[in-house]
Amino acid sequence: LKVAVLVSGGGTNLQAIIDGIENGSITNAKIDVVISNNKNAYALERAKKHDIEAVALSPKDFETRDLFNEALYNELVDRKIDLIVLAGCLVVIPEKIIHEFENRIINIHPSLIPSFCGTGYYGLKVHEKALARGVKVSGATVHFVDEGTDTGPIIAQKAVEIKQGDTPEVLQRRIMEQAEWVIMPKAIDDIANGRIKVEEGKVIYL
Ligand code: GRF
Repeated sequence: LKVAVLVSGGGTNLQAIIDGIENGSITNAKIDVVISNNKNAYALERAKKHDIEAVALSPKDFETRDLFNEALYNELVDRKIDLIVLAGCLVVIPEKIIHEFENRIINIHPSLIPSFCGTGYYGLKVHEKALARGVKVSGATVHFVDEGTDTGPIIAQKAVEIKQGDTPEVLQRRIMEQAEWVIMPKAIDDIANGRIKVEEGKVIYL
């Protein structure tokens, strides 16, 4: 399975995928390219350290958004990418790519969808809202990307306990360590080995 990982920041989810492939817990998958809209993203350094092609492609580099969308589309199609992984990616994926790669784009969201998701729920905001609501568990979700925001078929979820006195930063870190870095690599391994199918908008395991 040829994988493109789209990133914007630190790339800890990317690192979990790289480690999974290198330690054999992810099989039949190869990261063909890492693409970041932020040329300073540490995620690009992580890719380079592992001899993975790292490409900076930002809307800022183009006259119009359409030109950026076209460039991103061509990058993915020319490389014959099988699976696009959004790992801490802040770029809105254009419709054209979502339609071309139907049920072949996955995203990690740091909450148990449908809680604390949708537009405006990114970065620490998600955790601030969870703490403000006083929920006792939160967690992470891996889902297929469709036209909506965090609305596609859910692939995997993992719950994480909230502790008294948690700050958004502490909660974010626990969810990354205990949930994101576990379910994202497993989802890729399941897809790469044909264990997942989408039926009537829901993910079933074969
Ligand atoms: C993580 O909280 C992740 O849930 C969200 O982006 C944050 C940073 O991810 N999608 P990464 O370290 O860049 O993978």
